[in-house]
Amino acid sequence: MLKIDWMRLYDLLDVLEIERECFGAAAWTHGDFLHYLQERNAIGMTASEDGKFVGFMCYSLYPGKIDLGNLAVAVSHQRRGVGRALIEKLKSKVSKRRGLIHCFVGDRNLAAHLFFQSLGFRAVAVHRRYYNNDQDSYEFCFSRVSQGGCDVDVESEERRANRD
Ligand SMILES: CC(C)(COP(=O)(O)OP(=O)(O)OC[C@H]1O[C@@H](n2cnc3c(N)ncnc32)[C@H](O)[C@@H]1OP(=O)(O)O)[C@@H](O)C(=O)NCCC(=O)NCCS
Repeated sequence: MLKIDWMRLYDLLDVLEIERECFGAAAWTHGDFLHYLQERNAIGMTASEDGKFVGFMCYSLYPGKIDLGNLAVAVSHQRRGVGRALIEKLKSKVSKRRGLIHCFVGDRNLAAHLFFQSLGFRAVAVHRRYYNNDQDSYEFCFSRVSQGGCDVDVESEERRANRD
């Protein structure tokens, strides 16, 4: 059975293994994870099956929105609903005051584009050379109001959340 839990410091070695398997040379390092997770608004979660880590996500909470900073599923466990379960967990954090989820996906990562689209996210912007190389990045967004892509204006949704 799939179990979703808070990420602990000593989970990082297993997390790093999945990260490297999924992202290769572009993988976050141990230091990158520590740097990200030491922020007060940053949270890590792991997915495990029968005691084995099979995926994780890291996200940051802001007024009005959640930024998904990293998400990966072990190759051996992809296409089995692990990513979906992590994102459903993230969607459960969406509220009136924090109505959006944002993430950035490399323009060549078609699997992730299809994944986010299938979960109701929509591409709302393209950022040129976002990763400091020749890769552009698509910004994907999920909105509580439309229960899907941001056909609502992201700016006004954030303003509304800050005002409420
Ligand atoms: C993107 C990723 C997180 C998806 O996780 P996953 O556990 O394999 O995805 P799920 O099994 O929950 O898939 C949910 C739906 O997304 C879509 N989807 C996922 N992977 C897909 C693929 N390779 N091709 C087409 N559609 C895909 C499908 O609609 C799928 O539903 P289905 O299997 O019933 O058809 C995983 O492929 C991964 O870790 N990739 C490498 C890291 C990465 O790109 N992270 C995201 C960018 S930050």
